[in-house]
Amino acid sequence: MKNKSYFLGLIKWNAKKYNLNISFNNPSLSLFTDRTQYYIIYCFLSGLAIFFGLLRISLFYTLAARSAINLHIAMFNKVFKTSIRFFDINPIGRIINRFSNDTGLLDDIIPSTISDFMNVFMTVVGSISLTLFLNYWLLFPTIALAIFFIFIRNYYLTTSMEIKRIEGIVRSPIFVHTGNTLSGISIIRAANMEEKLNQEFNDHVDFHTRASSTSIYINRWLGIRLDSITIIFTYITLTSCLLIKKYRLLEIDSGEIGLMLVYLLQSTSLFQWAIRQSCEVENLMTSVERVLEYSELETEPLDKGDRKPPTGWPSNGEITFDNVSFRYDKNLSYVLNDMNIKINAGEKIGIVGRTGAGKSSIIQTLFRMAEPDGYLYIDDINIKELSLHDLRSKLSIIPQEPTLFIGTIRTNLDPLNEYTDNVLWDALAQVQLKETIKEMKDGLESEVHKGGSNLSVGQKQLICLARAIIKKSKILIIDEATANVDFKTDAMVQEAIRECFKDCTVITIAHRLHTIIDNDRILCLSQGRVVNFGRPYELIEDDTTILHDLVFSLDKHERVKLIDVAKEKYINYEIPFTHF
Ligand SMILES: Nc1ncnc2c1ncn2[C@@H]1O[C@H](COP(=O)(O)OP(=O)(O)OP(=O)(O)O)[C@@H](O)[C@H]1O
Ligand SMILES: [Mg+2]
Repeated sequence: MKNKSYFLGLIKWNAKKYNLNISFNNPSLSLFTDRTQYYIIYCFLSGLAIFFGLLRISLFYTLAARSAINLHIAMFNKVFKTSIRFFDINPIGRIINRFSNDTGLLDDIIPSTISDFMNVFMTVVGSISLTLFLNYWLLFPTIALAIFFIFIRNYYLTTSMEIKRIEGIVRSPIFVHTGNTLSGISIIRAANMEEKLNQEFNDHVDFHTRASSTSIYINRWLGIRLDSITIIFTYITLTSCLLIKKYRLLEIDSGEIGLMLVYLLQSTSLFQWAIRQSCEVENLMTSVERVLEYSELETEPLDKGDRKPPTGWPSNGEITFDNVSFRYDKNLSYVLNDMNIKINAGEKIGIVGRTGAGKSSIIQTLFRMAEPDGYLYIDDINIKELSLHDLRSKLSIIPQEPTLFIGTIRTNLDPLNEYTDNVLWDALAQVQLKETIKEMKDGLESEVHKGGSNLSVGQKQLICLARAIIKKSKILIIDEATANVDFKTDAMVQEAIRECFKDCTVITIAHRLHTIIDNDRILCLSQGRVVNFGRPYELIEDDTTILHDLVFSLDKHERVKLIDVAKEKYINYEIPFTHF
């Protein structure tokens, strides 16, 4: 009987809402007479719901996918073109995390969580709106409970974010410990330390369990409070309806009360889920924030320049530093100060100095990794007027740590696929790697692993040298590898450089004096300042120079050998040069 009256009430409410002319004097009769009409309305509404549901889902997911793709592209473009300083101050793990974890969340978890949240949230809002629409007296308790609810939600959110952070922090030691244990398993067994390691592992797991169980407890904490709010609201609704009916404060019938209760009871469980999902969305939005942060990075103006260099620039390879100072960032102090030197076309220059003197920073200056102060000319063109792309493509470098990329020997020699096989083989022959590469199964197509890990340091250096030969730059800068290569390879590299870059300007940053002692001039740096710049033999002879100190710090045999080479070079070659 109760059910019937509720059902009729529901029909009556719908009829009123959709202006249907239904007689309720004889409910059972009119119900069956107008059944077709109801079917039609029901089918129509269901059809609309399906249509809008599909439309919403397809629009939402298309938009979400597009946003994720656009954000990824924007982030990639910015990170790819941002200054090197960014990579100095951001650990590679952090950058990879944004491209993997954060982008992954953007791709799948965030859209589904937002969609779920919107769905449930709209259902809850619908239920509450319906209740308020039928019984506006409930507005006051609704506002009071809403304030209470906002307080609880904020409290939960700040706590849960902190717990999640702690959970993340205590999770990594488990992985680190497992990795270390596995890599040192033989030593652990030999030292009979299994028990200790096991105990340590259990401690790490306990820490993590504490954090993760706290996370579960606070969810329960929130659940109980949210359930209480909805139950109190349902109770207030019911009581207020009874009072309203008793004191005739509002026109409301039992059907409408039934309708309100059905919706409210239904939203009890949904309410909790809606809030959890809203907190989850807020937590996940930090990933979007992180991706956005990288997609707004400042980029280097790679193609912007006031001047286009003439074709074939630099034809001579003359380099002039006119009052050049350099620092890696505006907030840092200068690492090169007031450099005033001129390197003549085709000269071979060696740079020496203690570690941290600023030798490698000269390369950074020439490549404008950060903008230097002063004037820096290459063949009478101030390089600051050129676009970075034009400048960098004309200089060749063999860095302190030879860099190879995953791919093949060919892609490492000629990444843009501009040269013929003959050119590549010729270059390999000049660095005496031709036979080695030919002996590899796939020749030029032989695989190069990450960082060239399947090649020796010497081979990597030689490939970098071959790369420079192929590029035919007039200026070559070599930052000598600190990792020692064997004497034979070293001699091979030196010989290849001498042969292939006879007519080029070669600047060698030396860690071993014998590689530069036969150079035309040597530049001695100390704390970012040019201390001496002159012919090797002259510098050795002058006991106030850094080179003199360096040579005389070696054992006698080495020293004599170096002085002999420098002397021979001094006697046999007379290269005109100008001090600036
Ligand atoms: N990427 C960087 N960001 C900020 N400061 C840097 C950076 N690289 C080097 N420096 C600083 O610049 C100074 C000169 O360093 P540089 O690498 O030029 O020395 P170096 O003479 O090449 O030393 P080494 O012989 O060890 O290679 C040092 O004080 C160093 O701390
Ligand atoms: Mg260096």
